[in-house]
Amino acid sequence: MATQAFGIDIGGSGVKGSLVDLKTGRVLRDPITIPTPAPATPDHVIAACQQLIDQFDVADDVPVGISFPAPIKHGVIPFMANLDQEWVGINAEERFSTQLGRPTVVINDADAAGLAEVRFGAGAGVGGVVIVTTQGTGIGSGMFIDGTLVPNTELGHLEIDGRDAESHASARQKTVYNLTWEQWAERLQRYYSHVEMLFSPDLFVVGGGVSENHDKFLPLLDLKTPIIPAKLGNLAGIIGVACAAGEAAR
Ligand code: BGC
Repeated sequence: MATQAFGIDIGGSGVKGSLVDLKTGRVLRDPITIPTPAPATPDHVIAACQQLIDQFDVADDVPVGISFPAPIKHGVIPFMANLDQEWVGINAEERFSTQLGRPTVVINDADAAGLAEVRFGAGAGVGGVVIVTTQGTGIGSGMFIDGTLVPNTELGHLEIDGRDAESHASARQKTVYNLTWEQWAERLQRYYSHVEMLFSPDLFVVGGGVSENHDKFLPLLDLKTPIIPAKLGNLAGIIGVACAAGEAAR
């Protein structure tokens, strides 16, 4: 059984990778980040992944996993919100595996981050329904029932007040519109109370880079459900997808 795997997290601004110890859920080396190619077409992005694999000199028998910012249904990308539209309809698992020349597991980025948080981070040991959201360019969601993932929930695309939720309440919107923490928290309040009403979760975990500043916005939210910051920061996607790749390789 593999004891380590290589995780790659593809984001709107960077493609980041590192080797992960599957038992401890820790990265074995500092991750390397390459700027996301523009345009972020399949060929360009896969070339960036190959570059990371080469830089880490990843051995052939080490499983590789890709955390990807779109739903991945049995390998296939049904729609794409924040990277190049050329990805739509592609079997990402086949495409990565062929072009990288090794079996490659591809899962949604928030599902990957959620897996890491539920196993090694803020959601570890929590039973019932845990919803991990990632705040960044979009809003990603990973839903877990007693630690088991329900994949591809896409709660960032709930339509709330006639709008796609992430186009109003993501961390990116805070930056683009220069919102104060209070102004952004009003949007988050509307978002999380809606998700709470729909799913009655036992716990919300909030990840993404902005969660470093959780003390500026989480205390402003008034929810029935506990809402806590993620613990693994921007390494969660790498760690989670490495775990998924390690399990697939068993
Ligand atoms: C995508 C999700 C992704 C999230 C965070 C959304 O726009 O549809 O699949 O998890 O962004 O990257």
